[in-house]
Amino acid sequence: MLQYSDDNMLGPYKIVRKLGEGGMGTVYLAFDETLARHVAIKVLRLDADPDGSAAVAMARRFEREAQTAAKLKHPNIVTIYTVGRQGGGTQENGRPYMVMEYLEAGSLADQLHKNGPLPWRKAAEVMADALLALAAAHEAGIVHRDVKPTNLMWSAAGGRGGVKLVDFGLARALYGPADAEITFPGMFVGSASYASPEQINGTERIDARSDIYSLAATGYALLTGQPPFVDDDSAEVMRQHATEPFPDVRELAPEVPEEWVRVFERAGRKNPAERYADAMEMHAAMTRLLRLPESWQSESPHPVAAKATKVSESLAMLESQLAAAQSSRDESMQLSTLRSLCGLYSQLERPEQAKEAFRRALVLHVKMCQPRLAE
Ligand SMILES: Nc1ncnc2c1ncn2[C@@H]1O[C@H](COP(=O)(O)OP(=O)(O)OP(=O)(O)O)[C@@H](O)[C@H]1O
Ligand SMILES: [Mg+2]
Repeated sequence: MLQYSDDNMLGPYKIVRKLGEGGMGTVYLAFDETLARHVAIKVLRLDADPDGSAAVAMARRFEREAQTAAKLKHPNIVTIYTVGRQGGGTQENGRPYMVMEYLEAGSLADQLHKNGPLPWRKAAEVMADALLALAAAHEAGIVHRDVKPTNLMWSAAGGRGGVKLVDFGLARALYGPADAEITFPGMFVGSASYASPEQINGTERIDARSDIYSLAATGYALLTGQPPFVDDDSAEVMRQHATEPFPDVRELAPEVPEEWVRVFERAGRKNPAERYADAMEMHAAMTRLLRLPESWQSESPHPVAAKATKVSESLAMLESQLAAAQSSRDESMQLSTLRSLCGLYSQLERPEQAKEAFRRALVLHVKMCQPRLAE
């Protein structure tokens, strides 16, 4: 049950239901009774701060950042209507909230979850939209800092109107240091799966090129259904973003044109100076992709057959790796193999086998954690 007030009002907005929860707060569907329209309200979570003193500063920074983001008027950027404080506009310790356009068609993460990867042409359209949004924000001096599939939302059902970027600048407003542009190791609280190497290393200024890297990681997920680096341990994911070469997308999505591989080679560089210089340069690469003829086929004469062969080879390899790990009692190898198998079974639409691999991985994971919990 919501606890804002007896009648579930948050300021002038009537809360309808919770839409979801992220790292920075909770998003509700609400009804604006004055204008008779639905809105989405993000209520900030400030509980990371035990004594509350930083919360006041964070709330102020959030409001400043939201004011800047609210100036961005672009078809591919969510419209922010207003910001407020729970309990009243001047209340210092009220939790800040942001009222924005309600996007009912859901996020790209929902889409990946429900329907799996996008066809490459659709993915290129989504990327092109996101790049126009980033170009407008960067032009206005705003770096997003948390580009990822949950922050890309469909404008309307059926993909009409393309996508909109949400949550501009919030990552910095809440977790960045107050007066500096620089983030430090350990300060980074965004999603490890889409973080740029410089966000992880915390060694240099975060600028527009950091968003370009995160969008490349997002594009990889749109095409393959998973982020470029996957591991149970987020520290390991961060290490890989910082040091491992960006993976070849065609290993998981062999049907995508070569041009996509080149996009990732460029946008996924560790060194920001080697990436696309700006969002519009990367947008031009997406436009080139979208100009490929409808009849475009992979260089492989039978892309579907090639993919099938590749998948069945991977399956046989993983199954024999699992058997070997079981006989040598190598639990961490069993665990990582089970996780890969789970993903592969899902790709092959074998839900029963995927569930069984997931269940076995979970049991093993819990078992492996027990000695640590006992310490
Ligand atoms: N304007 C909106 N309209 C409709 N749903 C939204 C809107 N903004 C966010 N949501 C949904 O609310 C949920 C929570 O969003 P939230 O931004 O808090 O989480 P997140 O994107 O996963 O993480 P982060 O805190 O890093 O942004 C998500 O499912 C998101 O799709
Ligand atoms: Mg979000």
